[in-house]
Amino acid sequence: MIGFIRLLQFLALLGWVSASRSRNPRSHVNRAPHAAPPLVELPESGPVVSRNGTQLPPYNTTFEFDQLIDHNNPSLGTFKQRFFHTWEFYEEGGPIILFTPGEVSATGYDGYLTNSTINGQIAQQQNGSTIVLEHRFYGLSNPYNNLSVASLQVHTIQQAIDDLVYFAQNAKLPMPNGDNVTPDKAPWVLIGGSYSGALTSWTMVNKPDVFFAGYASSAVVEAITDFWQYFDPIRQFMPQNCSADVQAVISHIDDVFTHGTPAQIQTIKDNFGLGIMTHLDDVAGALRNNLWDWQSLSVTSGPHAQFFNFCDALEVKNGVSAGKGGWGVDHALTAWGSYWNSTYYSFVCGNEDAETCLGSYNSSQSFWTDITVDNSDRSWTWIVCNEVGFYQEGAPTDWPSLVTRLVQPAYDERQCTYWFPEQFKTAVAPRVGTTNAKYTGWDVNIDRLFFANGQRDPWRDATVSSDFHTRQSTNSMPIAVGDGFHCSDLITSGGTADSTILAVQTKALGFMKEWLSTFKPKKTLARRDAPTPTERIRKPINAWLRGVPTITAV
Ligand SMILES: *[C@@H]1O[C@H](CO)[C@@H](O)[C@H](O)[C@H]1NC(C)=O
Ligand SMILES: *[C@@H]1O[C@H](CO)[C@@H](O)[C@H](O)[C@H]1NC(C)=O
Ligand SMILES: *[C@@H]1O[C@H](CO)[C@@H](O)[C@H](O)[C@H]1NC(C)=O
Ligand SMILES: *[C@@H]1O[C@H](CO)[C@@H](O)[C@H](O)[C@H]1NC(C)=O
Ligand SMILES: *[C@@H]1O[C@H](CO)[C@@H](O)[C@H](O)[C@H]1NC(C)=O
Ligand SMILES: *[C@@H]1O[C@H](CO)[C@@H](O)[C@H](O)[C@H]1NC(C)=O
Ligand SMILES: *[C@@H]1O[C@H](CO)[C@@H](O)[C@H](O)[C@H]1NC(C)=O
Ligand SMILES: *[C@@H]1O[C@H](CO)[C@@H](O)[C@H](O)[C@H]1NC(C)=O
Repeated sequence: MIGFIRLLQFLALLGWVSASRSRNPRSHVNRAPHAAPPLVELPESGPVVSRNGTQLPPYNTTFEFDQLIDHNNPSLGTFKQRFFHTWEFYEEGGPIILFTPGEVSATGYDGYLTNSTINGQIAQQQNGSTIVLEHRFYGLSNPYNNLSVASLQVHTIQQAIDDLVYFAQNAKLPMPNGDNVTPDKAPWVLIGGSYSGALTSWTMVNKPDVFFAGYASSAVVEAITDFWQYFDPIRQFMPQNCSADVQAVISHIDDVFTHGTPAQIQTIKDNFGLGIMTHLDDVAGALRNNLWDWQSLSVTSGPHAQFFNFCDALEVKNGVSAGKGGWGVDHALTAWGSYWNSTYYSFVCGNEDAETCLGSYNSSQSFWTDITVDNSDRSWTWIVCNEVGFYQEGAPTDWPSLVTRLVQPAYDERQCTYWFPEQFKTAVAPRVGTTNAKYTGWDVNIDRLFFANGQRDPWRDATVSSDFHTRQSTNSMPIAVGDGFHCSDLITSGGTADSTILAVQTKALGFMKEWLSTFKPKKTLARRDAPTPTERIRKPINAWLRGVPTITAV
């Protein structure tokens, strides 16, 4: 059964990767901090049944919510925001657990309703109901029917926060009493992973008192333009020989590309079969793909995951693997080149020529100009270029680097002018300072927010478990770190496979239990809670009238 689930996960991951690759086969683009891939290991697909025996719709039933197009201008009307929902574990008084997959289509994410995830585990323990809400501008939840720059003006972190709040305050959930569980009456728990984990933190900072508790997994709370640290946890946890050789090769390539003769430069390009490429930053930058493969790893990845195949290609020579210092630059350069030529190139580029696939300088390619909806790379890049950056570049010269230093933020900022020429007439840095000032980044301090992180997550340095910014775990804002990768703790099977991840999940369930037991509905002006007549007389009549709409506002 474990083997079967592993196979399913592997297939799902492949499907997920190839789905995004088939749309955008080019691979000079930074990785998005996607949450875990869609879950396929659903409980046996029998009927879903509530605690009291009511037969419920299948998990993948799609509901729609009328969301405001622009929270700054409600007169622009609404769009249909998709969501999944179940109340299989719900009992009156239980929490409403809201999750968004973030910067991807929600299709396939209905598994996050179930106890195959921490979301469903919390629901099962606390008698809660679960919701998976598609984020605006992803999948089929779009304010406008295209992703033009004009449409994207309402694609901001703040609008996404306001969506979550407006949903919580206005959704009539398709369940008994579902129009009577707004955050003043029932505790809402906001859950997210990766970007949506950050959104969980940012929402609780920006709109306190809506979500009673939060769970933020691998939450990239600090926006960082030059996010060279992305590769640092990889350097720390990958096989040492492979790390040593990758550093040696990259440092050699950077040296030749900067100081070498044209012939020496051509030899290196040919070594990787990339001889036709014109821009050296594209060539050296393309080698980041082998390191980006680390992000696809999970605690259940076997030894034949793409990343480990790469290290084997460099480090195993005639059946013998190198000691921790590696084989050195000569062997590693040749071995890396033939791995690219023999298998890796077609994995990344299929049948495309190298310049089309890996080049970043032709702004007329459809890759930059296609504005049809459900193109998550475009929607995410908009947020990247404007608000968060997270450009994955070479390390500073005083730090070991697994990737080329020829790629710096200017490389990515130039690409923003191709994606969104009407917005970016010239290359500019994203407004990370504003983002961090507004949502407090690493310095978040919010009650009842649980942070879960993984030691081996390449995104860890943008989280509250960064090596570059120290935060202490407290009982009101716990920070739990396991040996996992990116968002490993969101998935129940992460805990089954690794006891340190199980410990993170168990700790979270403990805090949720404690916190939720303290929830008190806000006093409503329902008859039995109304002030006594004498109190009422002392209050100015306007305050009394004003009180009503804020409580029942729709
Ligand atoms: C929901 O899942 C069932 C069975 O897994 C499948 O047959 C059906 O097509 C799915 N429906 C949607 C709307 O995806
Ligand atoms: C998870 O939920 C299913 C019902 O959807 C239930 O049959 C199963 O026992 C639950 N798993 C655990 C570990 O409680
Ligand atoms: C869940 O509901 C059951 C049955 O109503 C109740 O016994 C239990 O205390 C509830 N659990 C919590 C955490 O509220
Ligand atoms: C894209 O959507 C905008 C609304 O934001 C609309 O005005 C425009 O005509 C659309 N453009 C195309 C090419 O469909
Ligand atoms: C189950 O509980 C819900 C809400 O309490 C109620 O509406 C429904 O009628 C119940 N169903 C059964 C079969 O008892
Ligand atoms: C060397 O590389 C091989 C192949 O990737 C790996 O299995 C082994 O653990 C590495 N050894 C050291 C000491 O880094
Ligand atoms: C890679 O492929 C190119 C052309 O396909 C070839 O010229 C080159 O020798 C190959 N390099 C290696 C190291 O196999
Ligand atoms: C740039 O891309 C366009 C669209 O794919 C293509 O027609 C054109 O030939 C490319 N230009 C160069 C210099 O490769």
